[in-house]
Amino acid sequence: MLRARITGTGSAVPDKVLTNQDLEKMVDTNDEWITTRTGIKERRIAAKDEYTSTLAIKAARSALEMVSVSPEQLDMILVATVTPDFPFPATACIVQNELGANNAVAFDITAACSGFLYGLSMADAYIKTGAFKKILVIGAELLTRIVDFTDRNTCILFGDGAGAVLLEPSEEEKGILSTHIYSNGNHWQLLYLPGLGTRNPVTEQKTMDERLYYLRMEGNDVFKYAVRAMGDAATAALEANGCTADDVKLLIPHQANRRIIEATGKRVGIPLERIFVNLHKYGNTSAASIPIALDEANRSGRLNPGDLVLMAAFGGGFTYASALIKW
Ligand code: UT7
Repeated sequence: MLRARITGTGSAVPDKVLTNQDLEKMVDTNDEWITTRTGIKERRIAAKDEYTSTLAIKAARSALEMVSVSPEQLDMILVATVTPDFPFPATACIVQNELGANNAVAFDITAACSGFLYGLSMADAYIKTGAFKKILVIGAELLTRIVDFTDRNTCILFGDGAGAVLLEPSEEEKGILSTHIYSNGNHWQLLYLPGLGTRNPVTEQKTMDERLYYLRMEGNDVFKYAVRAMGDAATAALEANGCTADDVKLLIPHQANRRIIEATGKRVGIPLERIFVNLHKYGNTSAASIPIALDEANRSGRLNPGDLVLMAAFGGGFTYASALIKW
């Protein structure tokens, strides 16, 4: 049976670090509150001349270099992002151009923080049909461009970054075992960006006056839904493969809040020692969080051949998703 296998991983974050102490000087907050309520200590913030594509391209090059695959060999580039360079064209097309991936088809996926796992799911399906062979899935975000740095409820949470994986077909009993993707549009207003689209065009005064170009979030409601949704998606992955939590070597969850991660682990039955956490360094990087974590886990030797790796995400929409991989 043909499977899609992750062969290369890469990631990139901006150099500039924004610490909790820096934020103390910007809004009425403190390191103790941020650390205990979220687990975040610092996040990365892009320079003026860095864009979502800048980080996406760096992460992509790093994944391709790991396995010595050239951009011309790519058949498809998927970029999951809610902070594209432009409303159109797709950031994936900008990445394609910069890489010189002239034989690839390229498009973006909008599924907020679940975007990377949505992309993985699509790439998996395309590879299994045999229609496409080498697919790059990238999660890339510059969330600090849509965050209000006068709103302490949101500005402490988010950061910038990108992660990429290369997927290739494999005849071995290795690779993506399953993906599950879900949406629940009933709650879209709990986490969204009101301006910059067609409802509140940037050309209207209201968009400026009401600062509609910044993301809005009902943190508490999102928190509760996130724990349930990530737990359900992760459990669906285990059940579909006849596995238990004990079989999982590493859970790589979306990095939104340490308390969400811990509660998800508890719900699924995976202890913290087997959960990958790096949000203290980067905050919530939305679609980029899982591929950055996966790349760090891979490069630090935490993944061995045959390991079962479970990934689960949750985001605006609402969207949620999981994937189970045999490494
Ligand atoms: O990627 C997926 C999308 N996002 C998420 O998953 C985020 C989900 N939500 C969360 O992570 C949490 O809800 C937050 C971290 C956003 C907030 O934590 P919370 O424990 O839900 O706090 P809260 O919103 O209930 O606020 C508790 C108090 C409030 O004060 P009062 O009303 O009790 O006096 C807030 O005003 O904490 C206050 N507060 C802050 N205090 C210091 C809120 N933000 C801050 C802050 N510093 N930065």
